[in-house]
Formats: sequence, C-alpha cells, structure tokens
Amino acid sequence: MSEKTANGSRARILTGDTPTGQLHLGHWVGSLENRVALQDQYECFFLIANMHAFTTRADKPDEIRRSTIDIIKDWIACGIDPEKSTFVLQTEIPGIAELSWYLAMLLPFNRVMRNPTLKSELDAKGLGDNYSFGFPMYSVGQCADILLFRPELVPVGEDQLAHIEPCREVARRFNQMYCGVDSHTEDEDYVSAGGLFPIPEGKVGRVARLIGTDGKHKMSKSLNNAIFLTDTFKQIKKKMGGLYTGRVAMDEPGDIHNALFDYVRAFIRDDERIKELEEAYSKGDNIGDGHVKVEVAEHIDKLLEPMRERRVPYEGKEGDKKVLELLRAHTEQANNAAEETLYLAKQAMKLDFGKRSLVFA
Ligand code: TRP
Repeated sequence: MSEKTANGSRARILTGDTPTGQLHLGHWVGSLENRVALQDQYECFFLIANMHAFTTRADKPDEIRRSTIDIIKDWIACGIDPEKSTFVLQTEIPGIAELSWYLAMLLPFNRVMRNPTLKSELDAKGLGDNYSFGFPMYSVGQCADILLFRPELVPVGEDQLAHIEPCREVARRFNQMYCGVDSHTEDEDYVSAGGLFPIPEGKVGRVARLIGTDGKHKMSKSLNNAIFLTDTFKQIKKKMGGLYTGRVAMDEPGDIHNALFDYVRAFIRDDERIKELEEAYSKGDNIGDGHVKVEVAEHIDKLLEPMRERRVPYEGKEGDKKVLELLRAHTEQANNAAEETLYLAKQAMKLDFGKRSLVFA
C-alpha cells in the first residue's frame, strides 16, 4: 500500500543524519528502522546534514567528509535502497541555504533560542556562551531542509521533535502570509487550502530513546556508550558485558526496568521469550545477568548480520568511489525537487524576478 496525497502523488518523507561519526543502534531503533519500513510507501529523501556538522567541527573537514561517506554506507547496509530513495547531500543543494534566509525572517529569535534540543546540545558539549552564530542557525536550516522537500512525514529520534515543532510553525506562517491560508485551518488541510507546504509530522521510532551500554545516558558516540552498526559479535558481547545493573547474585530478584531489560525488549523480537525472561529475572530464578546479556548480544548480532552482507560491495576505497558516484546522481534528483519548491516559494513571496528555470519541467 502506498500513502497518497490529495493530488494522488506519493506522500513524501524527509529525514537525515549529521555526519559526526558512524551510526549506532540508537539510530536504528529511533529512525532507521522506520525509514527502511516506509521506503516503499513514500517517496523518500534522506539527507546528510554535512553543513550542520560544521557548526561544531569547522576545523575538521576531513572527518566530516569521511563520516559523510560512512553514513551513506550505513544507510545502504540498513536496507535503504538507493534505487527507491533519494540521497540529499546538504551542501550540494543551494536551495537549502536560500530558503533558510526566508524562513529565518518568519521565526522569532527567542523562539529559536528556546529550543530544548539546542540547549541540551550546548550543555553536553560544555559550550556555555561560546558558540558560533551558525550553531543556532542550524535549527532554522533544519526547517529549510525539511520544507524544501515538502514532506508529510519526518521519521526522527525523540530528541529531534524539538526541531520539528518550529518547522511546523514556520510552515503554517509561510502558508498564511504568502499563500493566503486562513489561520484557523487544520494542519492536514493547509495544502488543499492553497498552502505551499504540508505541515510535516514527526514520527518517532519503536524505541524513543535507547540507553547506552553505560546503562545511564542516551546512546551516543561522544559518550562512548554506543554499539555501532559495524560492530562485530565480539565487540557487541564485550560492550553488552560491561552494562552495569547493580545486581549481585542470580538468585536475587532482578528489576526488569533496568537498562539490561530495555535491551531485552528492544532487541529480542519475540514477545513470548521476553515474558519468560522477565518472569525468571524478576523472581531471581537462577538467571544471571551474564546469560541475558549474551542472549541480547546474539539477537543484536542477528540484526546486524544482513547489514554486514549489504556492506560488502561498498568496502574500502572502491566503495568510497561508488558512494560518491551515487551521491552525484542523487544530487541532481534532489535539486530537481528542491528547485521546484523554491520556485513556488519565491513566486508566493513576489520574488519571481529572475530566470530561475523550472528544472523539474
Ligand atoms: N539534526 C538532525 C540530527 O542530528 C539531522 C537533520 C538535519 C535532520 N536536517 C534534518 C533530521 C531534517 C530530520 C530532518 O539527527
């Protein structure tokens, strides 16, 4: 079944990742899994936010480039099919920077700065007041990333919802101000009421926030508590083995709301087995943490196995070359979609002076 818009075309998805390292299990359960599941029903655009990576790592262009290529490999490994979906390399889409400016005019400065995800990123990085102008600008840029592709749906991890909200606000405002849409219009009716932008909806994955193998914080590369999609069984077992639960003996009743059981429920995809483990563990029925950890590690390994296979044709320098070729071809597709929106947006804003041609025609 495919999701249709009012005019009968396939509804769209846009989402993406910032290239600051390889993708991990938190990305998988939070968003990647949804992307793979939805790529047949929707017309999908998957974005590498490489411009955003410069907000905090302007001095590391080599790393950003490396990670850009690695993330495309991660996507393909996950089962995102480059024949079905379009990859969007942010820095190759000039319309993103242009639309960011127009949207910045419709977003109050204080609204941008009130974004809790921006705040917690600054905290986590210990930046205090020491951040570039470009740092908060990225959240306006993220509205442009999304709106330029006019998606209905944005599958993201929970932390990203705070970016979707201003995007929805600015889309409503644009539609009201420049397309004459009444401010009482329901979100789902903005386009049929003459608006340019659908009001996009965030969609959080099966596990909103996966805890890291430190058992404390959200899984994140910078906190060194991540299981990467490229990890071997040995690495997975070792990382799972280090997950601290505080339980001392296997005949001691265990707390099934601990971090270990978050993993049980996230990665053992068999409800019967989950129930069995929960019962035994909570009774202290001779079931040790070690046993549960190995069982979880085996399930994670099973999940990653087909990913390893899909990765093979993209290994090494030759693989890098293939990725770059793919990106080049996809950039043209992405710009066609982007230029169409920008043309229409500038028309709505009475800015259709130039000769921006309809590349999509
Ligand atoms: N900020 C997102 C992240 O770091 C990446 C991103 C950039 C994004 N633009 C986007 C996600 C647009 C969804 C839609 O994970």
